[in-house]
Amino acid sequence: MSAAETSSGAGTVTELTGGPPPLDGRAAAMELEHLTCRFGLLTAVGDVSLVVPEGSRFGIIGPNGAGKTTLFNLLSGELRPTEGTVKLFGQDISRLSPPQRVRLGMGRTFQVVRVFSQLSVRENLTLALTGLARSKFQLLRPWRMYRDRQARAEELAKSFGLGDRLELLAGELSHGELRELEVLLALAGEPKVLLLDEPAAGLSPAERVDIQDLLKRLPPELTIVMIEHDMQVLRGVVDWVAVLDHGELVTQGPTLDVQRHPRVRELYLGSAAAHGGAAAQGSAAAQGAAGTDGGGQP
Ligand SMILES: Nc1ncnc2c1ncn2[C@@H]1O[C@H](COP(=O)(O)OP(=O)(O)O)[C@@H](O)[C@H]1O
Ligand SMILES: [Mg+2]
Repeated sequence: MSAAETSSGAGTVTELTGGPPPLDGRAAAMELEHLTCRFGLLTAVGDVSLVVPEGSRFGIIGPNGAGKTTLFNLLSGELRPTEGTVKLFGQDISRLSPPQRVRLGMGRTFQVVRVFSQLSVRENLTLALTGLARSKFQLLRPWRMYRDRQARAEELAKSFGLGDRLELLAGELSHGELRELEVLLALAGEPKVLLLDEPAAGLSPAERVDIQDLLKRLPPELTIVMIEHDMQVLRGVVDWVAVLDHGELVTQGPTLDVQRHPRVRELYLGSAAAHGGAAAQGSAAAQGAAGTDGGGQP
Protein backbone atom coordinates (compact mmCIF):
# COMPACT_ATOMS: atom_id res chain seq x y z
CA MET A 1 0.00 0.00 0.00
CA SER A 2 1.32 3.42 -0.72
CA ALA A 3 -1.38 5.23 1.20
CA ALA A 4 -1.31 5.40 4.96
CA GLU A 5 -4.37 6.40 6.90
CA THR A 6 -4.31 8.51 10.02
CA SER A 7 -7.23 9.62 12.13
CA SER A 8 -7.90 13.25 12.81
CA GLY A 9 -10.70 14.91 14.74
CA ALA A 10 -12.63 15.56 11.54
CA GLY A 11 -12.42 11.97 10.33
CA THR A 12 -9.98 9.94 8.35
CA VAL A 13 -7.35 11.78 6.40
CA THR A 14 -5.38 9.85 3.86
CA GLU A 15 -1.73 10.55 3.49
CA LEU A 16 -0.27 9.59 0.17
CA THR A 17 3.34 8.67 -0.11
CA GLY A 18 3.25 9.58 -3.81
CA GLY A 19 5.20 6.44 -4.67
CA PRO A 20 4.55 4.40 -7.83
CA PRO A 21 1.84 1.73 -8.02
CA PRO A 22 2.92 -1.76 -6.93
CA LEU A 23 3.70 -3.92 -9.94
CA ASP A 24 2.56 -7.13 -8.19
CA GLY A 25 4.32 -9.26 -10.77
CA ARG A 26 3.05 -7.26 -13.75
CA ALA A 27 5.35 -5.78 -16.38
CA ALA A 28 5.71 -2.00 -16.64
CA ALA A 29 3.71 -1.11 -19.76
CA MET A 30 5.07 2.43 -19.68
CA GLU A 31 7.88 4.11 -17.80
CA LEU A 32 8.33 7.86 -17.87
CA GLU A 33 11.69 8.95 -16.55
CA HIS A 34 12.34 12.59 -15.70
CA LEU A 35 10.14 13.64 -18.58
CA THR A 36 10.40 17.35 -19.34
CA CYS A 37 8.92 19.48 -22.12
CA ARG A 38 9.65 23.17 -22.39
CA PHE A 39 8.06 25.65 -24.77
CA GLY A 40 10.51 28.56 -24.64
CA LEU A 41 10.47 29.72 -21.03
CA LEU A 42 7.38 27.71 -20.14
CA THR A 43 7.93 24.28 -18.61
CA ALA A 44 4.72 22.49 -19.66
CA VAL A 45 5.93 19.17 -18.20
CA GLY A 46 8.70 19.24 -15.63
CA ASP A 47 10.64 16.20 -14.48
CA VAL A 48 7.72 13.76 -14.38
CA SER A 49 8.54 10.14 -13.56
CA LEU A 50 5.78 7.52 -13.60
CA VAL A 51 5.38 3.77 -13.92
CA VAL A 52 2.21 2.37 -15.48
CA PRO A 53 1.74 -1.36 -14.79
CA GLU A 54 0.49 -3.57 -17.62
CA GLY A 55 -3.28 -3.95 -17.59
CA SER A 56 -3.79 -1.09 -15.16
CA ARG A 57 -6.30 1.72 -15.49
CA PHE A 58 -4.22 4.80 -14.86
CA GLY A 59 -5.80 8.25 -14.49
CA ILE A 60 -4.15 11.63 -14.93
CA ILE A 61 -5.85 14.67 -13.45
CA GLY A 62 -4.98 18.30 -12.85
CA PRO A 63 -6.35 21.77 -13.54
CA ASN A 64 -6.41 23.26 -17.03
CA GLY A 65 -2.92 24.04 -18.24
CA ALA A 66 -1.37 21.49 -15.86
CA GLY A 67 0.43 19.79 -18.77
CA LYS A 68 -1.76 16.69 -19.16
CA THR A 69 -2.23 16.88 -22.93
CA THR A 70 1.43 17.81 -23.40
CA LEU A 71 2.36 14.72 -21.40
CA PHE A 72 0.16 12.60 -23.71
CA ASN A 73 1.80 14.19 -26.75
CA LEU A 74 5.16 13.12 -25.35
CA LEU A 75 3.88 9.56 -24.87
CA SER A 76 2.32 9.26 -28.33
CA GLY A 77 5.17 11.03 -30.14
CA GLU A 78 3.42 14.21 -31.28
CA LEU A 79 6.07 15.98 -29.20
CA ARG A 80 9.66 15.06 -28.37
CA PRO A 81 10.80 15.60 -24.79
CA THR A 82 13.28 18.35 -23.97
CA GLU A 83 14.70 15.93 -21.42
CA GLY A 84 13.89 12.48 -20.11
CA THR A 85 12.73 9.23 -21.65
CA VAL A 86 9.54 7.33 -22.43
CA LYS A 87 9.63 3.55 -22.40
CA LEU A 88 7.03 1.16 -23.78
CA PHE A 89 7.43 -2.35 -22.35
CA GLY A 90 11.06 -1.57 -21.57
CA GLN A 91 11.94 -0.13 -24.98
CA ASP A 92 13.03 3.51 -25.19
CA ILE A 93 10.58 5.08 -27.66
CA SER A 94 11.38 8.74 -26.89
CA ARG A 95 12.68 9.48 -30.39
CA LEU A 96 10.18 7.40 -32.38
CA SER A 97 7.48 8.94 -34.58
CA PRO A 98 3.77 8.51 -33.76
CA PRO A 99 3.28 5.81 -36.46
CA GLN A 100 6.30 3.89 -35.17
CA ARG A 101 4.80 3.99 -31.68
CA VAL A 102 1.43 2.81 -33.02
CA ARG A 103 3.19 -0.18 -34.57
CA LEU A 104 4.70 -0.98 -31.18
CA GLY A 105 1.26 -1.01 -29.55
CA MET A 106 0.31 2.55 -28.67
CA GLY A 107 -3.18 3.88 -29.40
CA ARG A 108 -4.67 7.24 -28.50
CA THR A 109 -7.68 9.51 -28.75
CA PHE A 110 -7.55 13.28 -28.78
CA GLN A 111 -9.17 15.93 -26.60
CA VAL A 112 -10.84 17.27 -29.73
CA VAL A 113 -12.61 14.51 -31.68
CA ARG A 114 -10.85 13.49 -34.91
CA VAL A 115 -12.98 11.41 -37.25
CA PHE A 116 -14.01 11.74 -40.90
CA SER A 117 -17.47 13.28 -40.46
CA GLN A 118 -18.40 12.80 -44.16
CA LEU A 119 -17.74 9.07 -43.99
CA SER A 120 -19.95 6.44 -42.36
CA VAL A 121 -19.09 4.73 -39.11
CA ARG A 122 -18.33 1.58 -41.13
CA GLU A 123 -16.01 3.51 -43.47
CA ASN A 124 -14.22 5.23 -40.59
CA LEU A 125 -13.59 1.89 -38.91
CA THR A 126 -12.57 0.16 -42.15
CA LEU A 127 -10.11 2.96 -42.89
CA ALA A 128 -8.61 2.68 -39.41
CA LEU A 129 -8.23 -1.06 -39.94
CA THR A 130 -6.75 -0.49 -43.41
CA GLY A 131 -4.10 1.70 -41.86
CA LEU A 132 -2.80 -1.47 -40.24
CA ALA A 133 -2.76 -3.69 -43.29
CA ARG A 134 0.52 -4.63 -44.89
CA SER A 135 0.60 -3.59 -48.53
CA LYS A 136 2.31 -6.83 -49.56
CA PHE A 137 -0.71 -8.87 -48.53
CA GLN A 138 -3.09 -6.20 -49.74
CA LEU A 139 -1.83 -6.68 -53.32
CA LEU A 140 -2.04 -10.43 -53.15
CA ARG A 141 -5.43 -10.79 -51.54
CA PRO A 142 -7.34 -7.52 -51.90
CA TRP A 143 -10.86 -8.94 -51.73
CA ARG A 144 -10.19 -11.20 -48.76
CA MET A 145 -8.50 -8.35 -46.86
CA TYR A 146 -11.41 -6.07 -47.62
CA ARG A 147 -13.92 -8.67 -46.39
CA ASP A 148 -11.92 -9.34 -43.24
CA ARG A 149 -11.77 -5.66 -42.44
CA GLN A 150 -15.50 -5.27 -43.01
CA ALA A 151 -16.12 -8.13 -40.61
CA ARG A 152 -13.76 -6.70 -38.01
CA ALA A 153 -15.34 -3.22 -38.35
CA GLU A 154 -18.77 -4.74 -37.72
CA GLU A 155 -17.53 -6.79 -34.82
CA LEU A 156 -15.95 -3.75 -33.18
CA ALA A 157 -19.07 -1.62 -33.65
CA LYS A 158 -21.41 -4.36 -32.41
CA SER A 159 -19.44 -5.30 -29.35
CA PHE A 160 -19.26 -1.68 -28.21
CA GLY A 161 -22.79 -0.42 -28.78
CA LEU A 162 -22.47 1.17 -32.23
CA GLY A 163 -23.78 -1.84 -34.17
CA ASP A 164 -26.92 -0.03 -35.31
CA ARG A 165 -24.94 3.06 -36.33
CA LEU A 166 -22.67 1.47 -38.93
CA GLU A 167 -24.28 3.15 -41.95
CA LEU A 168 -24.69 6.60 -40.39
CA LEU A 169 -22.25 9.35 -41.32
CA ALA A 170 -19.93 10.07 -38.41
CA GLY A 171 -21.17 13.67 -38.67
CA GLU A 172 -24.67 12.47 -37.81
CA LEU A 173 -23.65 10.80 -34.56
CA SER A 174 -24.36 12.34 -31.17
CA HIS A 175 -21.35 13.73 -29.32
CA GLY A 176 -21.37 10.70 -27.04
CA GLU A 177 -21.41 8.27 -29.97
CA LEU A 178 -18.57 10.21 -31.61
CA ARG A 179 -16.48 9.79 -28.49
CA GLU A 180 -17.25 6.08 -28.53
CA LEU A 181 -16.32 5.84 -32.21
CA GLU A 182 -13.00 7.51 -31.43
CA VAL A 183 -12.22 4.85 -28.85
CA LEU A 184 -13.13 2.14 -31.38
CA LEU A 185 -10.88 3.76 -34.01
CA ALA A 186 -8.01 3.63 -31.53
CA LEU A 187 -8.87 -0.01 -30.74
CA ALA A 188 -8.68 -0.87 -34.44
CA GLY A 189 -4.90 -0.64 -34.12
CA GLU A 190 -5.03 -3.39 -31.48
CA PRO A 191 -3.04 -1.32 -29.02
CA LYS A 192 -1.43 -2.70 -25.90
CA VAL A 193 -1.59 0.75 -24.34
CA LEU A 194 -4.52 3.09 -24.96
CA LEU A 195 -4.24 6.81 -24.18
CA LEU A 196 -7.57 8.61 -23.74
CA ASP A 197 -7.60 12.40 -23.53
CA GLU A 198 -10.79 13.48 -21.71
CA PRO A 199 -13.13 10.90 -23.27
CA ALA A 200 -16.13 12.32 -21.36
CA ALA A 201 -15.47 16.01 -22.08
CA GLY A 202 -18.61 17.87 -23.07
CA LEU A 203 -20.90 14.84 -22.68
CA SER A 204 -24.33 14.75 -21.04
CA PRO A 205 -24.66 12.73 -17.81
CA ALA A 206 -26.30 9.83 -19.72
CA GLU A 207 -23.55 9.86 -22.36
CA ARG A 208 -20.95 9.83 -19.62
CA VAL A 209 -22.46 6.63 -18.27
CA ASP A 210 -22.31 5.11 -21.78
CA ILE A 211 -18.65 5.92 -22.34
CA GLN A 212 -17.84 4.70 -18.85
CA ASP A 213 -19.59 1.39 -19.65
CA LEU A 214 -17.64 1.09 -22.89
CA LEU A 215 -14.34 1.70 -21.11
CA LYS A 216 -15.19 -0.86 -18.44
CA ARG A 217 -15.81 -3.48 -21.12
CA LEU A 218 -12.34 -3.12 -22.68
CA PRO A 219 -10.11 -6.21 -22.38
CA PRO A 220 -8.44 -6.44 -18.94
CA GLU A 221 -4.98 -6.96 -20.44
CA LEU A 222 -5.20 -3.59 -22.24
CA THR A 223 -3.37 -0.84 -20.36
CA ILE A 224 -5.37 2.38 -20.23
CA VAL A 225 -3.99 5.81 -19.40
CA MET A 226 -6.78 8.34 -19.18
CA ILE A 227 -6.93 12.08 -18.66
CA GLU A 228 -10.32 12.97 -17.21
CA HIS A 229 -11.87 15.95 -15.47
CA ASP A 230 -15.02 14.17 -14.44
CA MET A 231 -14.29 12.50 -11.14
CA GLN A 232 -17.27 10.18 -11.39
CA VAL A 233 -16.15 8.78 -14.74
CA LEU A 234 -12.61 8.56 -13.43
CA ARG A 235 -13.68 6.71 -10.30
CA GLY A 236 -15.69 4.24 -12.38
CA VAL A 237 -12.79 3.39 -14.64
CA VAL A 238 -9.35 3.94 -13.11
CA ASP A 239 -7.71 2.34 -10.11
CA TRP A 240 -4.74 4.67 -9.83
CA VAL A 241 -4.44 8.44 -10.30
CA ALA A 242 -1.50 10.77 -10.83
CA VAL A 243 -2.03 14.49 -10.20
CA LEU A 244 -0.28 17.14 -12.27
CA ASP A 245 -0.10 20.85 -11.57
CA HIS A 246 2.06 23.38 -13.39
CA GLY A 247 3.70 20.51 -15.24
CA GLU A 248 4.80 18.73 -12.09
CA LEU A 249 3.68 15.53 -10.45
CA VAL A 250 1.90 16.58 -7.24
CA THR A 251 1.11 13.10 -5.96
CA GLN A 252 -0.25 9.72 -7.07
CA GLY A 253 -2.09 6.85 -5.45
CA PRO A 254 -5.25 4.72 -5.43
CA THR A 255 -8.16 6.70 -6.93
CA LEU A 256 -10.23 7.15 -3.76
CA ASP A 257 -7.24 8.19 -1.66
CA VAL A 258 -6.18 10.75 -4.25
CA GLN A 259 -9.70 12.16 -4.48
CA ARG A 260 -9.85 12.66 -0.72
CA HIS A 261 -6.45 14.29 -0.62
CA PRO A 262 -6.75 17.90 0.62
CA ARG A 263 -4.32 19.26 -1.98
CA VAL A 264 -6.31 17.62 -4.79
CA ARG A 265 -9.59 18.99 -3.48
CA GLU A 266 -8.01 22.41 -3.27
CA LEU A 267 -6.73 22.17 -6.86
CA TYR A 268 -10.14 21.06 -8.10
CA LEU A 269 -12.08 23.66 -6.17
CA GLY A 270 -9.75 26.26 -7.60
CA SER A 271 -10.15 24.91 -11.11
CA ALA A 272 -13.94 24.70 -10.90
CA ALA A 273 -14.23 28.18 -9.42
CA ALA A 274 -11.94 29.64 -12.07
CA HIS A 275 -14.20 28.27 -14.79
CA GLY A 276 -17.49 29.12 -13.13
CA GLY A 277 -18.15 25.41 -12.73
CA ALA A 278 -20.17 23.66 -10.07
CA ALA A 279 -18.75 23.94 -6.60
CA ALA A 280 -16.65 20.88 -5.99
CA GLN A 281 -18.10 18.55 -3.42
CA GLY A 282 -15.38 15.96 -3.18
CA SER A 283 -16.83 14.10 -6.14
CA ALA A 284 -16.38 17.35 -7.69
CA ALA A 285 -15.32 17.80 -10.97
CA ALA A 286 -14.69 20.90 -12.76
CA GLN A 287 -17.47 19.92 -15.05
CA GLY A 288 -17.89 23.53 -16.05
CA ALA A 289 -14.36 23.32 -17.38
CA ALA A 290 -14.90 20.19 -19.40
CA GLY A 291 -15.17 20.95 -23.08
CA THR A 292 -13.74 24.45 -22.75
CA ASP A 293 -10.28 23.07 -22.27
CA GLY A 294 -8.74 23.18 -25.69
CA GLY A 295 -5.26 24.35 -24.75
CA GLY A 296 -2.24 22.63 -26.12
CA GLN A 297 -3.81 20.85 -29.06
CA PRO A 298 -1.23 20.32 -31.73
N1 LIG B 1 2.55 23.69 -28.58
C1 LIG B 1 2.60 24.51 -27.53
N2 LIG B 1 3.33 25.64 -27.58
C2 LIG B 1 3.42 26.47 -26.51
N3 LIG B 1 2.80 26.26 -25.33
C3 LIG B 1 2.04 25.15 -25.23
C4 LIG B 1 1.90 24.22 -26.32
N4 LIG B 1 1.10 23.21 -25.90
C5 LIG B 1 0.74 23.49 -24.64
N5 LIG B 1 1.31 24.65 -24.22
C6 LIG B 1 1.18 25.25 -22.90
O1 LIG B 1 1.61 24.26 -21.97
C7 LIG B 1 0.79 24.29 -20.80
C8 LIG B 1 0.16 22.95 -20.59
O2 LIG B 1 -0.84 22.75 -21.56
P1 LIG B 1 -1.65 21.41 -21.71
O3 LIG B 1 -0.69 20.29 -21.76
O4 LIG B 1 -2.58 21.56 -22.86
O5 LIG B 1 -2.46 21.37 -20.35
P2 LIG B 1 -3.74 20.51 -19.92
O6 LIG B 1 -3.99 19.47 -20.95
O7 LIG B 1 -3.39 19.96 -18.59
O8 LIG B 1 -4.88 21.49 -19.82
C9 LIG B 1 -0.21 25.42 -21.01
O9 LIG B 1 0.29 26.57 -20.39
C10 LIG B 1 -0.25 25.56 -22.51
O10 LIG B 1 -0.62 26.85 -22.88
MG1 LIG C 1 -5.65 19.04 -22.15
